Amino acid sequence: MPGANNFSRNSYLHHPNQTKGEFFARKQKIEQRRKKLPIAAVERRLVEEVRNNDTLIIVGETGSGKTTQIPQYLFKGGFCRDGGIIGITQPRRVAAITVAKRVSEECGVPLGQKVGYAIRFEDVTSGLTKIKYMTDGLLLREALLDPYLSKYSVIIVDEAHERTIHTDVLLGLLKNVQKARSKGINEVPGQAKKYNPLKLIIMSASLDARVFSEYFGGARAVHVQGRQFPVDIFYTHKPETDCIDAALITIFQIHLEEGPGDILVFLTGQEEIESVERLIHERLRQLPECNRKLLTFPIYSSLPSEKQMKVFMPSPAGYRKVILATNIAETSVTIPGIKYVVDPGLVKARTYDPKMGVDSLIIVTTSKAQALQRSGRAGREGPGKCYRLYQESFFEKLTDSTLPEIKRCDLSNVVLQLKALGIDDVINFDFIEKPDRTAIVNSLWSLYLLGAVTEENKLSDVGYQMAKLPLDPVYSKALIVASQFGCLKEMLICVAMLSVESIFYAPREKLEESRNALKSFASPDGDHLTLLNVYRAADEFFQKNKMVNSEEKAEKSLRKWCKDNYINSRSLKHARDIHSQILRNVEQMGLRVTSCEDDMLLFRRCLAASFFLKAAMKQPDGVYRVTLSGLIVQIHPSSVLFRAKPECIIFNELVHTNHSYVRNVSRIDYLWLVELAPHLYALQD
Ligand code: CDP
Ligand code: MG
Repeated sequence: MPGANNFSRNSYLHHPNQTKGEFFARKQKIEQRRKKLPIAAVERRLVEEVRNNDTLIIVGETGSGKTTQIPQYLFKGGFCRDGGIIGITQPRRVAAITVAKRVSEECGVPLGQKVGYAIRFEDVTSGLTKIKYMTDGLLLREALLDPYLSKYSVIIVDEAHERTIHTDVLLGLLKNVQKARSKGINEVPGQAKKYNPLKLIIMSASLDARVFSEYFGGARAVHVQGRQFPVDIFYTHKPETDCIDAALITIFQIHLEEGPGDILVFLTGQEEIESVERLIHERLRQLPECNRKLLTFPIYSSLPSEKQMKVFMPSPAGYRKVILATNIAETSVTIPGIKYVVDPGLVKARTYDPKMGVDSLIIVTTSKAQALQRSGRAGREGPGKCYRLYQESFFEKLTDSTLPEIKRCDLSNVVLQLKALGIDDVINFDFIEKPDRTAIVNSLWSLYLLGAVTEENKLSDVGYQMAKLPLDPVYSKALIVASQFGCLKEMLICVAMLSVESIFYAPREKLEESRNALKSFASPDGDHLTLLNVYRAADEFFQKNKMVNSEEKAEKSLRKWCKDNYINSRSLKHARDIHSQILRNVEQMGLRVTSCEDDMLLFRRCLAASFFLKAAMKQPDGVYRVTLSGLIVQIHPSSVLFRAKPECIIFNELVHTNHSYVRNVSRIDYLWLVELAPHLYALQD
């Protein structure tokens, strides 16, 4: 990649090669930049507002400095003096990581000391941490261990307008915690302990603070003036059929015809980002040398954190940056230097069909609010341009805003968490917006089928264990079942691999080669065993290498091995990290981690015993009928069982495109379901 080396130097203040002079020059520059942020003008007023209001709503334009500055102002304002810390939640992992890095740099301290972050599967905090960025889901988990969140003196719920399911549940929970702490008494009898009151700040980018204010009993809302330059909006003349191609054409049009400035492109996920990145490089090679000064930077949630930071570095002289982002760049992270935005108008969203009990990720059109946020990204530092890859008449048809996630996803995880927090009556929980009653009832039903709640609707012992694991209830249950079957070692791998996006790397133009590479791992019994084979092969390769080489070299060879085998090395690395984390979790829980060695029959039976909620039977015409919902589905072309079409399958994922497809599929015997999940399956003809 041209110029990649220019970025290898990291930018921490305490860089070992930095002289004292450089150190102070840099510090001064950072201070200047901080002072220029719109929010800096109201620092004193904001600190006073927090002092005078236990709950405060702060609304401000994206990029005005809310996320990076307010925690620092509060620290300086003495809100940690009682020994408490400041917690800031983010809906997205990337935001938590990049912002924490940025703030530690601004404070001139190493990450993990005064400023740190914690996300699922990664904790970079210490006893010194005073400003802690984390995901909203993680704070919910912390509440399981510390119901009064006693170590926090201030909790900031950031990006509240995103209305993720975790944010919504957190708001309800925090309302209770704040009430309990303001009374200063612990309601657990016999454990008299005094708590300091909790300061609560809700931050949001959208202008509608009313819902939050009303929910918190008329809490005070303050607006921070932002800076926004005009952005010219362009639409296409006719509808685009291939949005990747349209995006590519637009990127190169800007690159070749427009003045300096970086380009931000909104794409739907890792796979799409990776293929656009590859295609850009291909097309660049066909351009004359002088036109090749274009650098690509992906940013999405599962991108390893050292790669995420690169998007914030300024481009070297003469180069233009193209940032390929998911909707994370909409409001969660602000990348400097953007002048052009390319918006295909699509986003990957969770949807849930309560009737079918089906939760799926689908690509949908953005709302008007999202389209406006996206175009706004072009006008942060000067006038900009936004290219919407759809027609103007289409914009008018978009919905005004996005439906809160709690209204469109499976609630089993939330219900399990709430129950573990002692909130048994989930239906009457004080949600900011009530989820569908059917959705709650359905999740209670599936938790009951998984053995997590009893017939009396109480959390069972297994349910408590499941709630402790940072996984989807079905995966947590699978680990518990596997420890009984004696194949937890294999299930840990399987669950880790299922938790990451796209392990296989199948570029359009090398489909044949990648299919051949897959053959050496493919199991005739399905995708779960195939994933297991990949992980084992990679691990064996890595361990052998580590015996003769340094860890670093072994990692590097593993990346090469991945490339040769058409495995996505980023995803594999992520899966390996998740694996070591959940291994620690199950060991702490006292589960037996044993291996079934080569007894794959046993492992497949364990898969059936774990994933019985999602089983399907082949129909005479070759499609499948999901046993519990009656939904008609097909096996996804990426599955190793796509052609084999066994009689009976279990699967983990349902995706809707033009058809309903199931992914991560394994062949099982229907009789196993009768034997292992008799409460649901009976003998049939
Ligand atoms: O939260 P809000 O959108 O109001 O702003 P912020 O995230 O605090 O960002 C304030 C400024 O810091 C923006 O101009 C960002 O471009 C910059 N920033 C950065 O350069 N690098 C980061 N890792 C994070 C923020
Ligand atoms: Mg922010």
